[in-house]
Amino acid sequence: MKHLLSAADLSRDEAQLILDTAEEMRSLADRPIKKLPALRGRTVVNLFFEDSTRTRISFEAAAKRLSADVINFSAKGSSVSKGESLKDTALTLQAMGADAVVCRHGSSGAPHLLAKSGWMTGSVVNAGDGTHEHPTQALLDAFTMRRHLGSLEGRRITIVGDVLHSRVARSNVLLLSTLGAEVTVVSPPTLLPVDMSNWPCVTSYDFDSVLPKSDAVMMLRVQRERMNDAYFPSAREYSRRYGLDRYRMAQLPDDAIVLHPGPMNRGMEISAEVADSTRSVIVEQVTNGVAIRMAVLYLMLSGSNEEEQKA
Ligand code: CP
Repeated sequence: MKHLLSAADLSRDEAQLILDTAEEMRSLADRPIKKLPALRGRTVVNLFFEDSTRTRISFEAAAKRLSADVINFSAKGSSVSKGESLKDTALTLQAMGADAVVCRHGSSGAPHLLAKSGWMTGSVVNAGDGTHEHPTQALLDAFTMRRHLGSLEGRRITIVGDVLHSRVARSNVLLLSTLGAEVTVVSPPTLLPVDMSNWPCVTSYDFDSVLPKSDAVMMLRVQRERMNDAYFPSAREYSRRYGLDRYRMAQLPDDAIVLHPGPMNRGMEISAEVADSTRSVIVEQVTNGVAIRMAVLYLMLSGSNEEEQKA
């Protein structure tokens, strides 16, 4: 695996390999010494043009636990504010010797451009591009579900909310279907993409009818910063029809779990009571994010490291 740009790039075997490798990485968290020397001498650049808490910090933790050197680049406070282009930023980082670049960008396709332009020779990981994809989020979500539900083959996963602006939804639908799950997307009509003909899932506007048939429910953040008020129902109306509160949670099967990629709008798409309940695996998703990102960086970079060590 040279790059990870889309969940669609992963075959079932490749996805299972990442999940199985993450399981080994996850077991390190319980040991007194959490570090492996696997990526010693490698440099991972976190190139973030958009804000992030979980993704940026977990990639940093993952790279450090594999003994890589980490350079954190944030567009805020950099020469991007003086008008420097993506190309010149990439060439500058390449000159400093980046083996992998973890890129978050507000424009859909920016990590693809980095990977295909030749500006950088290293691996590129998409850490969230515009409203397009967030493949490592989907991997950590699948990993978390698999730990609770076992194989995802035939499992019924419901993804609820602002699908139109959600890179998490698209990557999850693609990956979960690759892993054999049956995915239902629930959303107000105004917050669904116009054309979902190539999404391997079914859609519904009726959250209550889907709940009793769900093994896992993933609530999406309402992305007010990306939307025009004209097509957004009022917060109260949204919460009433599409929010997960304790009354709706009671309709879920007994062993069903609740996920949210974060950051949450508590009281809008999910009530605080549900977010903090025993069915919620939201904090566990964050822990698992480090293991998944370790697995991705390890599988991308360790092969070339071994070849160099042999030379
Ligand atoms: N889930 C997610 O991508 O969170 P951050 O924006 O905090 O990275």
